[in-house]
Amino acid sequence: MTTQLITKLPAILDPTKIPQHVAAIMDGNGRWAKRQGLPRIAGHQQGANTVKSLLRCCKNWGIANFTVFAFSTENWSRPAVEVNFLMQLFEGLLNSQLEQMHSQGVRIRFLGDRSQVPIALQSMMDKSIDKTADNQAVTFNIAINYGSRNEIIQACRSIAQKVQSGKLDLQQIDESLFTQYLDTSGLPDPDLLIRTSGEQRLSNFLLWQLAYTELYITDTYWPDFSNDEFVRAIADYQQRDRRFGKI
Ligand code: FPP
Repeated sequence: MTTQLITKLPAILDPTKIPQHVAAIMDGNGRWAKRQGLPRIAGHQQGANTVKSLLRCCKNWGIANFTVFAFSTENWSRPAVEVNFLMQLFEGLLNSQLEQMHSQGVRIRFLGDRSQVPIALQSMMDKSIDKTADNQAVTFNIAINYGSRNEIIQACRSIAQKVQSGKLDLQQIDESLFTQYLDTSGLPDPDLLIRTSGEQRLSNFLLWQLAYTELYITDTYWPDFSNDEFVRAIADYQQRDRRFGKI
């Protein structure tokens, strides 16, 4: 970690216990909008500002990986107008923010099955990945059309295919090999998961990867989740005694 990063770190945080990977289930956009008397899409728009703000914090504080659940495999059942809005929002954000993220050293990756997302968004996703592939300040993982069970099934299929074709021996299948077939291949498991709006469930997000992750659940709606609350979440995490099943 550079001196610059440490000086930017809020005083209450311990620089020796910075999480290497923070993941977030960004919930409560719709309810935030409703409370303001606004359409649901205004909540998503405001939620995007929270994402930008937290990504900047991650970069400044030396959190190497930030992962957000932007759209689940189940979200397609929302009204078409909202689904379309979200797809356009993702494309528009990537388009408008790519240069800045690139200049800040952000590496962009995506989790999920992209085959069903609109072609224009797929192109923007490819462009973002290609342009930022060598950046090292922070890896920003965006889960779009992501479902953890589907991810695990796809991994099983790929592994089974290799066994079937004789390229892999059954005995070689272990946890370390399995993780290489997940969308998160190469990333450390999240140290901290934030879920906003008071819901206390995983909602098919990173089921394998969250096995030993510390959870921070807050009643705050995602658009209201501030940098200050992010600091509180990390401070809370730093108090946890992580035993990973040991005593
Ligand atoms: C959940 O709130 C939120 C979503 C399904 C969309 C999240 C998308 C963004 C925050 C846009 C920015 C994304 C990126 C990648 C920059 P909800 O609609 O379920 O809220 P509710 O539970 O109150 O209805």
